[in-house]
Amino acid sequence: MQSLRRSGAALLRGPSGLTSFWRAISTQAAEALKTQPSQLFIDGKFVDAASGKKFDVLDPTTGEAVFQVAEADAADVDKAVKAARRAFDQGEWPRMSGKQRGKILYRLAELIEQHAEELAHIESLDNGKPVVMSKIADIPLSADHFRYFAGWADKLTGKTIPCDNVFGKFFAYTLHEPLGVVGQIIPWNFPLLMLAWKVAPALAAGNCVVLKPAEQTPLNALRFAQLCNEAGIPPGTINILPGFGPTAGGAICDHPGVDKLAFTGSTEIGKLIMAAGAKRVVPVTLELGGKSPLIVDKNVDVDKAVEDTHFALFFNHGQCCAAGSRTFVHADIYDEFVEKAAKRAAKRKVGDPFSDVEQGPQVDEDQLKKILGYIDVAQREGARLLTGGKQHGSKGYFVEPTVFADVTDEMTIAQEEIFGPVQSILKYHTTEEVIERANANCYGLASGIISNDINFINTVSRSLKAGTVWVNCYNVYESAVPFGGYKMSGIGRDKGAYALEHYTQTKAVYQALEPNQPWLLPRPSSVHRSPAGMGQLMSKKPKLEINDVDRAVLTLKSQARKLEQQRTRIQGDIDRERQIAKELVAQGRKDRALLALKRRKLQEVQAERLDGWLLNVQGMLLNIETTKNQQQLFAALKEGNKAVKDMQQAMPLEEVDKLMQDSADAKAYADELNQMLGESLNPEQQEAAEAELEELEKQMLEEQRLEMPAAPGRPLPAVPATEEEEKAAAAAEATAAQLAQLPSVPGTTVAAPTAAAAEEEGPAGEQEREAALVSA
Ligand code: NAI
Ligand code: MG
Repeated sequence: MQSLRRSGAALLRGPSGLTSFWRAISTQAAEALKTQPSQLFIDGKFVDAASGKKFDVLDPTTGEAVFQVAEADAADVDKAVKAARRAFDQGEWPRMSGKQRGKILYRLAELIEQHAEELAHIESLDNGKPVVMSKIADIPLSADHFRYFAGWADKLTGKTIPCDNVFGKFFAYTLHEPLGVVGQIIPWNFPLLMLAWKVAPALAAGNCVVLKPAEQTPLNALRFAQLCNEAGIPPGTINILPGFGPTAGGAICDHPGVDKLAFTGSTEIGKLIMAAGAKRVVPVTLELGGKSPLIVDKNVDVDKAVEDTHFALFFNHGQCCAAGSRTFVHADIYDEFVEKAAKRAAKRKVGDPFSDVEQGPQVDEDQLKKILGYIDVAQREGARLLTGGKQHGSKGYFVEPTVFADVTDEMTIAQEEIFGPVQSILKYHTTEEVIERANANCYGLASGIISNDINFINTVSRSLKAGTVWVNCYNVYESAVPFGGYKMSGIGRDKGAYALEHYTQTKAVYQALEPNQPWLLPRPSSVHRSPAGMGQLMSKKPKLEINDVDRAVLTLKSQARKLEQQRTRIQGDIDRERQIAKELVAQGRKDRALLALKRRKLQEVQAERLDGWLLNVQGMLLNIETTKNQQQLFAALKEGNKAVKDMQQAMPLEEVDKLMQDSADAKAYADELNQMLGESLNPEQQEAAEAELEELEKQMLEEQRLEMPAAPGRPLPAVPATEEEEKAAAAAEATAAQLAQLPSVPGTTVAAPTAAAAEEEGPAGEQEREAALVSA
């Protein structure tokens, strides 16, 4: 900021048209006044006050009226709040996309820049600050603020929160919604910038605004209203009402249509605003007064420290809520510092804000009198006046840059906000002492440290009870950085993302999920009914989620289990057919025995196919569970599906049924014969029958009358794998090989779940889960 100030000074080349120090206003300001709106801005239009009243706008340089604006009171506030309500409840602004709002706010920032010249002149005319400061600070910082919040408009998103509890599965999401109609009341020290701090976050979040500028400085707020129309902000979204505190300001605070109050100004009025908010339970943010300590350490460059502390206090004529108004200087450098600080202040150029000066007039007569009153009290209380102490000149509201040394903590000027060009220097000896004294004040807005000692800086910056700490700098204001007070300096934060929290409210929306439904996975119920279902799952290819892997594993396991049951049944049939054939041979019924053997052969082939398929499935399961590789899963499902289809083709269900029927018939027939014979075969008969049966079997195989397709048992197709997957696959292969060694007996169990999974839920848990999934 100091370098800004220096480059600002370099910018001053004596504006053309400037003749004498005491001319009324600059040529450019006079020119700008010709297009200056003078009416209230309500519902997108400039209108007179309902009462028809107007009030004077004074030029603080001369104390003379240079303009008149309409004066709002309760009737106008009512009209403006109703317009804002309509704009919020039915209008476009809160309903348009954040992107669209951002676009308009970007345009507004550009318009402020395009009109920077006249805005700067009007600002200096209205407030009295040097026009160079308006040009390098107030106006560009205001444009920057709108640009910063334009960027936020489409980024106000909430969160998604899963909720599993005793009542079931839900999820909730949050919406950051605008509050509604916001009432904003701002001061006169940075007329356009304070407006920007309040309006930009409110509009970005989709609120509508009724704003009252300070009665001392209403002009640029009305020019801003013009730019809002030009930028395309819908009517009623922003309403600007010049007027006085107790009337227009009070009416905004008390209006039932206002959903939130935001205020910058004195702590005294801040308390009234908070009380008004309390009556209707509307949220209030306050940015109030300060008495900020600026602590100068012992081992510093004294000249630089003098310059920095001078800027910290005298910037904007001391009319800054954050002014470094208690300059604590270490005893080791105190005398040198005090002498140099007085010299620097005495050199400060005071005069016409449209000329080459550092300091213009204070904003009004009230402020002038208040400051002179504090100077008087300070002298009576024993502070040592080093320079200044009087009104500067006899016209307008100028005050001499004033420096007091030997100020002590209990003095009024060390306790209360002066808001003028009066520096108070206090001596300190130890770090602990200065921290305690710096914090011994009702305010906590800002603070500063000038030091080369990192430990001192760290200790002090964490110990100060203040919303801002400037280290080896002061009065730096960045749109993205929050600003606000501890203690009686306020509530909440302006600027940065933090400001948005005060212009949005959070809504939580709960949504129920279907009972027992895995998180976010749609239920593909047909998958579990038939092999064709696997085809459906496969048709989702190629992107399968990890949840799909788990589900597919369960499906495969379930199918394997069903096929195992079938395998067990077939094995029973095989054994029985042989017994039947044997009995038939013994009874001389070779034709029938041959039939039984054929059935048996069919069943054996069938059993062999089942064994092959089961082994395949087991390998696949192991592979999938080890690697969780989506591509392999896909390949495995494809393979499994094909195998099942093959089985169905080779052994249509009717044929299986017919075989079963034949088998049952044969058994019944054999039983019948046995009953007729009255006894079963004796050992010799058994032996003879066995030999005959073997002969018969040989004969049947030679005839090769049964041409069955080969059993499936294809290996899995190769899939490119990562190193990790390859390791896992190798492990899986080894296990699969072990499995293959096992006899393929009925009831072979499917591959065990991975150790981790087994540990997690145990076999019972797994079966339950499977049952739940599969039964659907
Ligand atoms: P103030 O607090 O009276 O005025 C600030 C704003 O509040 C103006 O717009 C004013 O019209 C409005 N206001 C005043 N009374 C109101 C009421 N009853 N209801 C609603 N709104 C009301 O400040 P003022 O009188 O201009 O200055 C007095 C002192 O306040 C200054 O000397 C300074 O110490 C402090 N101040 C602090 C500021 C800051 O940035 N924190 C800015 C301006 C003043
Ligand atoms: Mg006041």
